Amino acid sequence: MTSGEPVTAADLVVVANRLPVDYERRPDGSTGWKRSPGGLVTALEPTLRAREGAWVGWAGVPDVDVEPLVEDGLSLYPVRLSAQEVEEYYEGFSNATLWPLYHDVVAQPQFHRHWWRAYTAVNQRFAEEVARIAAHGATVWVQDYQLQLVPGRLRELRPDLRIGFFLHIPFPPVELFRQLPWRTRIMEGLLGADLVGFHTDGGVRNFHWLAQELTGATPERDPEVVRYGGRQVRLGAFPISIDSKQIDELSRSDAVRKRAAQIRDELGNPTRVVLGVDRLDYTKGIDVRLRAFHELLEEGRVTGGDTSRIGAESAIDTVMIQLATPSRERVEHYQQMRDEIELSVGRINGEFARVGHPAVHYLHRSLPREELVAFFLAADVMLVTPLRDGMNLVAKEYVAARHDDGGVLVLSEFAGAAIELTSALLVNPHDTDGVKEALYAALTMNPDEGRKRMRMLRRQVLDHDVDRWARSFLETLGVKVDR
Ligand code: ADP
Ligand code: G6P
Repeated sequence: MTSGEPVTAADLVVVANRLPVDYERRPDGSTGWKRSPGGLVTALEPTLRAREGAWVGWAGVPDVDVEPLVEDGLSLYPVRLSAQEVEEYYEGFSNATLWPLYHDVVAQPQFHRHWWRAYTAVNQRFAEEVARIAAHGATVWVQDYQLQLVPGRLRELRPDLRIGFFLHIPFPPVELFRQLPWRTRIMEGLLGADLVGFHTDGGVRNFHWLAQELTGATPERDPEVVRYGGRQVRLGAFPISIDSKQIDELSRSDAVRKRAAQIRDELGNPTRVVLGVDRLDYTKGIDVRLRAFHELLEEGRVTGGDTSRIGAESAIDTVMIQLATPSRERVEHYQQMRDEIELSVGRINGEFARVGHPAVHYLHRSLPREELVAFFLAADVMLVTPLRDGMNLVAKEYVAARHDDGGVLVLSEFAGAAIELTSALLVNPHDTDGVKEALYAALTMNPDEGRKRMRMLRRQVLDHDVDRWARSFLETLGVKVDR
């Protein structure tokens, strides 16, 4: 897996909290690397691989010193985090302060001064590591909410660099951002970049206003530029995407098609299969979709595994699958939510399953890409119901996998993806009746209408892939991009 020497003076450096791979200690004592979770890695890995850049990030385990390495042609520079820093900077400030605050306070954010101190110290370390490896005049692309102070620190250390920042999660409404005791410091950190990118225009507008309110930045004639510290800082909306072609091709392969048919077979060939795929996160609205499915079962409009129930003849024989990648398992809100979801799955199966035929199949693990695409291909209805999501790549992956124009996507209005995927059945995840009726409409949709909608969705997703996203960001940053 590893070969060659890492580049020493990189012209393009991506810096993210995580490397694209996690360091792994296996039960037999050996060590290795496995793919890191989440959409940031899904999007950036193909982008950077195509451009031979360097990637600075944490190896996913505390207190481990790992030498720089080359993994499949990518130079990786691990940044060490102590166990205390993981607790305070990563689990604490990043994921129990910023994550809930930026996601519309769907969970209560916690503000602790010692977490903030750890955040500033770790951001400083990331900036120093980048400053050490970046070539003179290089482009540095800083990623996401864990590293918002890096652009400012890096500019102090290396004024020769061209610095871009992209936020992969929503940038919150001004009223929410202003709750943050360190709001001005964060804005100043971000304004160290030459270009600050968001998924949506809403993010640009919120940032534009806050920059003036909190830091004294001044507007320029161009509404997407502010002046700060004698420099111009450009803002922009860059909706992220996926390697659509790769998923489309994978979904057409014999192996994946066979596996999709086999999955349906293993489920007992129900009339309809409903699927959810997420990192196990309270923002994803997994509870919302379980509630909607449960009510349809209770109302006798669908059956779970048990088709022998009285009155089942008029109901649609439907099973649900929920695939959930373990995530942030030591953060309290995540533990609570996992318990609640597992309780709901248990309740639904207790009431509606038959031995050997669960109504809801729940897998708490990460699956290989091919297997995931086979699930997409096997599912008649895809439920993507986050309460708030920056983009949601799963929605785009489902569409890219449906080369047969089959399947119906039910998508939350509060996912960034809803702005582009307007031919999905859009739902308000706070409205249980609305989600339930959309799910039922998806289950009973006229096949011609379903195909028409899917064709429109596919046109959007195949045209707007992740390479286009990266080019557009880098070109706006002033980087020459090969055609
Ligand atoms: P987030 O970045 O918040 O996790 P996204 O939907 O944008 O949400 O990205 C999630 C990524 O993780 C997608 O590429 C998706 O395919 C992948 N993923 C989610 N759940 C699983 C799973 N159970 N097994 C493998 N990959 C998964
Ligand atoms: C989202 C965030 C990423 C993060 C990923 C996985 O995609 O935007 O920054 O890496 O979730 O979360 P984790 O905490 O495991 O890195």
